[in-house]
Amino acid sequence: MNEPETNPQGNNPMTRTVQSTQSEMTEIILPNDTNTLGNLLGGRLMHFIDLTGAMAAYRHSRTHVVTAAMDHIDFIRPVRLGDLLTLKSSVNRAFTSSMETGVKVWAENMRTGGVVHVASAYLVFVAVDEHGRLQKVPQLVPETPDEVRRFADALRRRQHRERESARRKEERLVTAALEDQTDPSR
Ligand SMILES: CC(C)(COP(=O)(O)OP(=O)(O)OC[C@H]1O[C@@H](n2cnc3c(N)ncnc32)[C@H](O)[C@@H]1OP(=O)(O)O)[C@@H](O)C(=O)NCCC(=O)NCCS
Repeated sequence: MNEPETNPQGNNPMTRTVQSTQSEMTEIILPNDTNTLGNLLGGRLMHFIDLTGAMAAYRHSRTHVVTAAMDHIDFIRPVRLGDLLTLKSSVNRAFTSSMETGVKVWAENMRTGGVVHVASAYLVFVAVDEHGRLQKVPQLVPETPDEVRRFADALRRRQHRERESARRKEERLVTAALEDQTDPSR
């Protein structure tokens, strides 16, 4: 007999807990993932981070999500061929259609069993329907002191992203105006 589906929060609740968004992915690092020194490629790690972040956003929104932004990532230590990579994610805060997720990555040396933190990142995902139209997402309810801190920090990061985005837009306009002035063919 099939097991009944367990979904205590339902598909479309008004709110969700951080715990209900928690996601995890494990990968063994193979030769195709590495550079000529046998270290995990940065782009490959970003791909794993994107996927793990998307899992948490998907669990929160229960609809399609697209990556809108990936913040600055520090590659703290190299990950070696044969290491076991573990990535954990959860939603830090939900806004209207967007969600900030945090992803933390550890590498385990398969021979020694030593585990080290190798990278962390924040990503913003936007919920859309199958036609790409923005979808409202449930609000996130932080429960623990750490969740409350991340919730508050996520708003500060959003405000910072908005300021940076406005600054870049302004720079593009100035550059375009200067190019128009100096290019006689325009
Ligand atoms: C992300 C995307 C859907 C936003 O669409 P848009 O028409 O610009 O939407 P809006 O400006 O109305 O913003 C919608 C939400 O996205 C957020 N957003 C848009 N651009 C963002 C960015 N660069 N960084 C962070 N958040 C962003 C807004 O803050 C807003 O959030 P809110 O609804 O919670 O307030 C659109 O830019 C897109 O499709 N981008 C390409 C995504 C993609 O292909 N990703 C890689 C592959 S998955």
